[in-house]
Formats: sequence, C-alpha cells, structure tokens
Amino acid sequence: MCGIVGYLGPSQAFPVLLNELKCLEYRGYDSAGVAVIEEGRLCVLKAAGKLSNLEALLESKRPKASVGIGHTRWATHGIPNDQNAHPHTDKSGTVAVVHNGIIENHEELRDELKSLGYEFASETDTEVIVHLVSHEYAKDQDLLQSILRAVKRLSGIFALGIVSQKHPDRIYAVNHHYSLSVGLGDNENFLASDSMAVRQYTNRVIKLDQSELAEITTTGVRLFTFDGKEVKRSPIALDTSPYVIDKCGYKHFLLKEIHEQPLVLRQTLSKYLRHPNHPIDLNIDHLSTGSGETAYGVHLTEEEIKGLDRISVFACGTAYHASMVGKLLLEELVGIPCEVEIASEIRGRKVLVNESTLAIAVSQSGETADTLAALKEAKSKGAYTLGITNRADSHLAHLTQNLMVTECGIEVSVAATKTYLAQLASFYLLAIYLAEKRGTISKERAKELKVQLNLVPTMIEQILAREEQIRDVSVKYAEAHDVVFIGRGLNFPTALEGALKLKELSYIHASGYAAGELKHGPIAVLDQNVPVITVLVPGAVYEKTLSNAQEARARKAKMICVAVDGDEQATKTFDAVLAIPPVDELFSPMTSVVPLQLLSYFIADYLGKDVDQPRNLAKSVTVE
Ligand code: F6R
Repeated sequence: MCGIVGYLGPSQAFPVLLNELKCLEYRGYDSAGVAVIEEGRLCVLKAAGKLSNLEALLESKRPKASVGIGHTRWATHGIPNDQNAHPHTDKSGTVAVVHNGIIENHEELRDELKSLGYEFASETDTEVIVHLVSHEYAKDQDLLQSILRAVKRLSGIFALGIVSQKHPDRIYAVNHHYSLSVGLGDNENFLASDSMAVRQYTNRVIKLDQSELAEITTTGVRLFTFDGKEVKRSPIALDTSPYVIDKCGYKHFLLKEIHEQPLVLRQTLSKYLRHPNHPIDLNIDHLSTGSGETAYGVHLTEEEIKGLDRISVFACGTAYHASMVGKLLLEELVGIPCEVEIASEIRGRKVLVNESTLAIAVSQSGETADTLAALKEAKSKGAYTLGITNRADSHLAHLTQNLMVTECGIEVSVAATKTYLAQLASFYLLAIYLAEKRGTISKERAKELKVQLNLVPTMIEQILAREEQIRDVSVKYAEAHDVVFIGRGLNFPTALEGALKLKELSYIHASGYAAGELKHGPIAVLDQNVPVITVLVPGAVYEKTLSNAQEARARKAKMICVAVDGDEQATKTFDAVLAIPPVDELFSPMTSVVPLQLLSYFIADYLGKDVDQPRNLAKSVTVE
C-alpha cells in the first residue's frame, strides 16, 4: 500500500519517477505526487486520482530537476484529495516527505507540534513526520541526524523518502519493518518500495533492512541503523528475465490473467511434479534464480516431516480462501490437524505453535503486513516456516526457511485470479508431498492424485472455451444489489472467493456462506431480488448442498449454480447452470472457481467498472 520512489543522477528526474511510479501503481491509486529540486528550489506537484492525472500535470510543467522523490497513495488517514496526497512539506517548503505505513502516535505528535506553533495542511499522519524533521533540523542543520532523531519519536511501521532543498545532492530513505530497495546505477541511483520498479534501470539492488536509513547520493549509498551506526551491505543481483506486461489483445488484464490459468497451473505443477509415477519433489533449491538469499523449495527432512504434529496457515483475502482449501487437503491426505488464521485476526492473541508445527504463510505479494507479522511470531516460537508466494524477492520469501514460488509471472490486475489457482496448486502438491513422506496415502492413491491434478489445466481450458455462455448468464444478474454464494466442504472457500471477486470487481454487495449455515440466519435476506449462486459438485456433500439450495429456492431467490456437465438435478432446480467438466470432488475447487471469476468479470465489465483497478483497493496491503 502506497508506493515510494526516488531518483538522483544526470537524467531528468520526472520521467524516471513517473516510470517507477507506473510500476507501483498496484500499491494504491488514490492520488500521486512528486517532489523534485528544480534550480535549488523544492517543487511539489501532486494530483488526486489515478497516476495519469499526475502524468498530465508533469507533462505540462516538465520540471527541470535531477533529484526527486515520488509517491502513489492508498489512503489511510484523510480522504484521497490533492491536499492529502504526498509529498508533504514543512512550513518553509524546503523539506518533503513521502510515506508508506501508519504512524500510530500521530495524534499525540500532532498536538505536540501544534503547541509548538506548527500548522498542518492535511489530515494525514505523514505530515507529523515532515514537521518533526524540520523541528529537529532547526537545532543543528544536520539532516541525517535530524531524521534519525525524528524517526525515534515515531511508533508504527513505516517507510519514508525524504528530500531537502538545503541538501540537493541526496535522498534519505528510511525503512522500519517495510520494504525499500535502492537501485544502483552508474552515477545515478534509484529508490523504490518494490525492486520491480528499478529493474527497468538496473539489476543491482541494496535492500534496506529493518530499522535502517539510507543516505543516497549519485556516487553511493551509506546505510545506518537508527542508532546512527554505519553498516555495510553488498548489493544483490535481480532476476533479469523480462516481465511481459501486456494485455495481449484482451480487453483487461483480469481477463487475460483468468485465461492464463491453465498455463500457470502447468508451470507450477511441472516444477515439482515430474511424472505421476515419481514422488513429488519439493526440494528444488537447484532451480534458484533469485538473489541467492532465498531458500527455494521445501527442505524439511523426512524425520522432521514425520515429527510434525500441527500445521498453522496464515493469510489474508484470496490467499486465505486458498488456505482454507489447503487445510482440508492437508487434513484429508496428511492427517495432521491444520488451522487457518486470517492473519490480521491473530494480532494481540496467543499464537499456539511450537517446534513441531509447520507454519505456512501464503501471500501473492509476499508483503502483506499482517501475514508477515503472523509468520514472524510463529518463527520466533520455533515453528518450521514455509512461504507460498508469487514474489521470490519478497519480504516473505526472505523470512521463511522453505519456499514455494507460484509460477504466475506478474499479476497486474488488482483482483487475484491466477495466483489463487497457483496457491491452490501449491497446497495440492504440498499435501501429496507430505502424505507420501509420512506414508498416509498408498503409492496407488498418490499416483491417482497426481494424474487427477495433471488433468485440471485441461478442464480449465474447457471452461474458458464456454466463456460466451457464462457471459450471457452473468449479465442477466448485473442489476442485483445483493448476491449470496453458497458451498460446502471444499467448495465453501469457493463460495467465499466467488463473493469476494464479485464485490471487488462490480461493487455489488455479495456474501459467501457455508450452505448449511444459510438457514441459521442469512436466509432472512433472500427474496426474488437476491440471486443465490450455489457451488454444487458431485461428492460427499452434493445432496446436502442441493437441499440447502432448495431452501433458497423456496424463498423465491433467483437460482444459479456451478455444476458438472450432465447434472440433471441441477438443470431442474436452478434457473441457470454454469457447467464445468466432471471432476473429482477433491480437485473441484480448482475448476469451480473459474466460472465465478468470469461471472464477476462480465458483470463488472457490463456495469462499466474499472476492472483492473477497482476503487479503494491496492494489490499489496502493507498496512495492518
Ligand atoms: C483479492 C485480493 C486480496 C488479496 C489479499 C492478500 O482479489 O487480491 O484479497 O488476496 O490482499 O494479498 P497477498 O496475497 O498479497 O498477501
């Protein structure tokens, strides 16, 4: 959430800052701004709304500067407008600050600074930082020391970029439990919240550690702890394989990413699953392509795996839904009790893990603050750690002893689709892997599971080929104000994910329920105006799910279902059927979600919503 960038060197700063910001827009798009030093004077330009508004402003002003910082905002304190947009400046207009994170004691500091005569121009927590720095600077005109003194007064977790017209040859970057990378060029240096933003200029990067400050000039970078002690760190090399950020003819990235799912699945599966006759191999550090700091693969010994007595999974949002499926798979195949926690919900609670627990953190971005906090807590208690992420260079990847990287490439659309499928695939692989090691499934069963798993990408292709039918059904429900999704067992998470996608993309209120829970309360909301979407696949809970759907039908709800081809009961009971190829119940979460992703997409597109960047969202949720 919120993206910070910086540049200093021989080139014009504003096009570079803009290019860096474009790579970080996924972190928030409520407003954007830059502060550059133009002919010795600080010049701040900012604009509410998408980055394109700032781009237009910069194109019209074209500030001549070779040093600057920039920001793209996801609002926490203060509505998204020009005033609250970053950078924020001090009273004299000489220092500018961009900020990612939350300053928890900002109210107290604001009162203190106000009593000292400082006036506030915005409602943001960020503004206290710039006044604090300025207040400290007045004491000794030492910017580095002033920042260090100011930072010590701040509570919370944060990353900062700071420039001052009194020191036009440098940028200061501060990292406190966030991510900030300095990209090293030739006589020029770059700053960004995500190293992806500097990759277009350099592949040599220094990542700031926790509670660290960087003084960046054109000729070098000096790192300091918050106690002012200088530290040395060598740069790491970024993976240079090109990212393809192109809609490839699709109307939206989201639709393209939904269509990429068969390929993504095949790539994730083929990495670990060579042949159904062979055991799954998750110990693949030989495939490491990243910084060399990351432990790719699962390296637990057979003894350690056999000694596990509990699995705890931490995740948020869509990753949480994937983890709910993961829990059921792990319990079913490996027989180890597994709990899944919404990472934000364990704050302030006891985390009951120990040295026999495998703690799994699942996060597409690998930067979700709550997920990282849960993981750190589990790690501090001695649990084995495993990360499942799409970003091998993320914070999460560096924190875990074991790592499964989903092979999705960049997911541009803010709503997660292909990464959900890849996270599911990772759980299937992990569950089979652990079950083979612990001997909880026979060789034949393991082979059968691997054969089934390999069939899933083709089934998804078959669903995608029915896209037109799904669109025709979907748009009929586009005017609904409330939609209810129900499912049982392995497809309860599918119902939750279907509801989340619809809410995010179309802004229609939608809720997902365990189908059996409908009659315990939610059924009260049903009438002829509320579509109920049931995930109904053959298996242990088919009949019961069908009965729950009948209960909804008796309340005159509009009835839609996801069911397998040839399901006559479904055709009789529901007004519309989104058909998927016949599938073993165990694997159905990977296919049943696809028509729901498409349904949400088609409704949102029909309603003219901003499909790839829905309002109020950010792809990387780095605040708690
Ligand atoms: C939904 C979505 C979010 C994320 C959640 C966790 O489409 O994208 O719910 O799943 O913010 O993000 P990661 O996986 O990056 O930890």
